[in-house]
Amino acid sequence: MAQNEKIRLGILFGGRSGEHEVSLMSSNSVFKVLDPKRYAVTPIGITREGHWVVGENIWQALGSGNTQSLRRAVLLPEPRSRTLYVQEMRAGQNVLTPYVDLDVIFPVLHGTFGEDGTLQGLFEMIDVAYVGGGVLASSVGMDKALFKDVMRANDIPVVNSILVTRNEIEKHIEKVLAQAENVAAYPLFVKPVNMGSSVGVSKCRNRPDLLEGLMDAAQYDRRILIERGVNAREIEVSVLGNSDPMVSIPGEIVPGEEFYSYTAKYAEDSQSLLEIPARLDPALTRRIQDLALQAYRAIDGAGMARVDFLLDKDSQEVFISEVNTIPGFTQISMYPKLWEASGIPYPQLIDRLVDLAFERKAERDRTVYQYGRSK
Ligand SMILES: Nc1ncnc2c1ncn2[C@@H]1O[C@H](COP(=O)(O)OP(=O)(O)O)[C@@H](O)[C@H]1O
Ligand SMILES: [Mg+2]
Repeated sequence: MAQNEKIRLGILFGGRSGEHEVSLMSSNSVFKVLDPKRYAVTPIGITREGHWVVGENIWQALGSGNTQSLRRAVLLPEPRSRTLYVQEMRAGQNVLTPYVDLDVIFPVLHGTFGEDGTLQGLFEMIDVAYVGGGVLASSVGMDKALFKDVMRANDIPVVNSILVTRNEIEKHIEKVLAQAENVAAYPLFVKPVNMGSSVGVSKCRNRPDLLEGLMDAAQYDRRILIERGVNAREIEVSVLGNSDPMVSIPGEIVPGEEFYSYTAKYAEDSQSLLEIPARLDPALTRRIQDLALQAYRAIDGAGMARVDFLLDKDSQEVFISEVNTIPGFTQISMYPKLWEASGIPYPQLIDRLVDLAFERKAERDRTVYQYGRSK
């Protein structure tokens, strides 16, 4: 890339997960601060059905579901071409025409098929630079059960839990209920392993609640976590960087409901608040920041992540709850807000993330993939 040339950046959003709308909001905020003097930006949408699309007024079109005016786009899994093609029917033939070449892709998609490593696998195949964690960090970050196992292996404290399958719930419910009640006294939390936005998460106060919670969660995933319910403050920190990541000051979520449910997160009339900085003593702040960096390294995090904690109000114990490798990115989202409060304004944060994507790509290019072959 010549010095004076613009960076050709594809911003990717929408997608097939339940967090489609959140992605539209986050990506639009990112798009608005990308400096047109520095970047030649191509917005690339993914419809709810999974079609990639480009064209005018794309956020509006995806938001309304009215995507007829948009053109279909595809990336081919060819290393190093990094070309986005438009796909059109001409005289009954399916024709691919080069649309734009991309230097870097900024995926702003949450949840399945975006944040879980699937998309990152495609980027690796194409050999393009991309913002955020790689395949492994993304998939481990997404899978709440595997994530907890990795934390346990690294002596990072997590809340007691067991993993059960949909099949066990359907065939051996009595056994599952007994095992669950062995984890801890009620309340217990039930959640699908691969979800986000609190979809399928429930707080269960007794056996009938638990039964209902398990049935609900089993709709969303084959694997279900049952956790001790912590009387908790919810503390979050932002991490930024590749091999030498930095960590922000902590923020606190004060949910407007009994826990930070889907409606507490997104409802128009939600009473949930972000408190930045979180009111914590310096020792606890440092402990949370250290654990966040340890967790980030343990999953081979890159680029960014928001690391969420449960702070037990009764015992003051800290537990890591989850890592979000593509956190919310609206102007009022915790991830950018924490950086702003830590001295990195939103536009600079975006520039830094793009730089980190190139840095990581350069690092990857140093790796030799075949024995006895040098680059
Ligand atoms: N073990 C737990 N104890 C207390 N509250 C919990 C527990 N697990 C989840 N929660 C509550 O449920 C919310 C969503 O759970 P979380 O594991 O963060 O899933 P998601 O990926 O959907 O955000 C949390 O923000 C918190 O309010
Ligand atoms: Mg969460």
